[in-house]
Amino acid sequence: SRMVDGRRVFDLKAQAGEHDFGRGATPTWGFNGGFLGPTLRAARGEQVVVNVTNALDQTTTVHWHGMHLPAEADGGPHQLVQPGRAWSPTWKVDQPAATLWYHPHLHGETAGHVYRGLAGMFLVDDPATSVDALPHEYGVDDIPLIVQDKKFDGDGELDDSSSFLGGVGVLGDTVAVNGTVGPYLDVTTERVRLRLLNGSNARSYEFGFPDGRRFALVGTDGGLLEAAYDLDRIMLSPGERAEIVVTVKAGERTVLRSYPQALETGLLGDRFTGGADTLDILQLRAAGTLAPRPAVPQRLVAVPKLNRADAVRQRPFTLSGHAINGKQMDMTRVDAAPERGSVEIWKVVNNDGTPHNFHIHDVQFQVLTQGGAAPPPQLSGWKDTVYLPPNVTFELIMRFSDYADADTPYMFHCHVLYHEDAGMMGQFVVV
Ligand code: C2O
Ligand code: CU
Ligand code: CU
Repeated sequence: SRMVDGRRVFDLKAQAGEHDFGRGATPTWGFNGGFLGPTLRAARGEQVVVNVTNALDQTTTVHWHGMHLPAEADGGPHQLVQPGRAWSPTWKVDQPAATLWYHPHLHGETAGHVYRGLAGMFLVDDPATSVDALPHEYGVDDIPLIVQDKKFDGDGELDDSSSFLGGVGVLGDTVAVNGTVGPYLDVTTERVRLRLLNGSNARSYEFGFPDGRRFALVGTDGGLLEAAYDLDRIMLSPGERAEIVVTVKAGERTVLRSYPQALETGLLGDRFTGGADTLDILQLRAAGTLAPRPAVPQRLVAVPKLNRADAVRQRPFTLSGHAINGKQMDMTRVDAAPERGSVEIWKVVNNDGTPHNFHIHDVQFQVLTQGGAAPPPQLSGWKDTVYLPPNVTFELIMRFSDYADADTPYMFHCHVLYHEDAGMMGQFVVV
């Protein structure tokens, strides 16, 4: 990025190219390169400008997932970038330090565009909501990991056909991390912070280690947690992020792996949607001598709680049959119009026997209840995407602050991209 007149300016060019997944050159798409895009990084308070140019032969969009910003800058299905054209959204970054990401959001085409390689991370910095004792040297002890599963056809090209019986779209048997197949990380410090992004179309991951070692969960979608949680597994559905701090011993090798998980769609349902799979994600190769790093502090940052009593409205959202509340996505229909500054509770439930999750643009929400109970630690902080096991109602609370625009909608949807494209999406405007 560069600073121009006090603004932080990024350039992103969506282009066709190729990428080597360990099987020779495969046609792919990327930003500023053959596959994926650069990590963008900006500080709270900065005015950012992203010059998006489209060098593809088809229309796309670029959405800033997790970012609080005006609807016209959101990059959803209404902010089209035609081939050969440019789009330069600008907004002021104003939210806690977090691991966000960006990807296309063209209605009906999101799955294909993301699968071919259009995605990248967007890190927000903010000293007031960061913790210095956590590893924070980018690329040294603070590592972004975009985790995706890919599948290849007989010609070695990316195959995005839907997996048999699953009903969730493409499930691959090859894991690519930041585009690398069979990746390893040379760890040179006692502790390493992994910023995990599930950038897959459909697959959920249950991250852990073969020796059952525990790690510290320090952050979720929208920022750091109040307290570090000691876990041995963390599940991420498509679009979700987690920041974990892993402690290694000098000279050891271990592997971050994804384990079978309870998607809670039944034994066969879970199997057909990838829940029974074990996949190696990233080998960690610890150096013979490791630079010391401080212990993870118990208390991290303040996360102000949104109160039920402040909510002016509750809205029910039922996900089933590629629709939300029985309606498929319609670019001309607005499903909700919360008022600027207001707090609302969205009651969300998956009424299907298949995996869905729920993502809301513009806001970070808090999970008030899950199945009537208080949420587990991994859902105690800021979230923008949450996994919905069938028939469990989630109460999400959020505030729609700063930006009102009655004419430009934001989206809410299932982030299983095949479902999103098939119509499991709705629109809201802030008025
Ligand atoms: Cu990650 Cu509406 O998207
Ligand atoms: Cu989003
Ligand atoms: Cu879904």
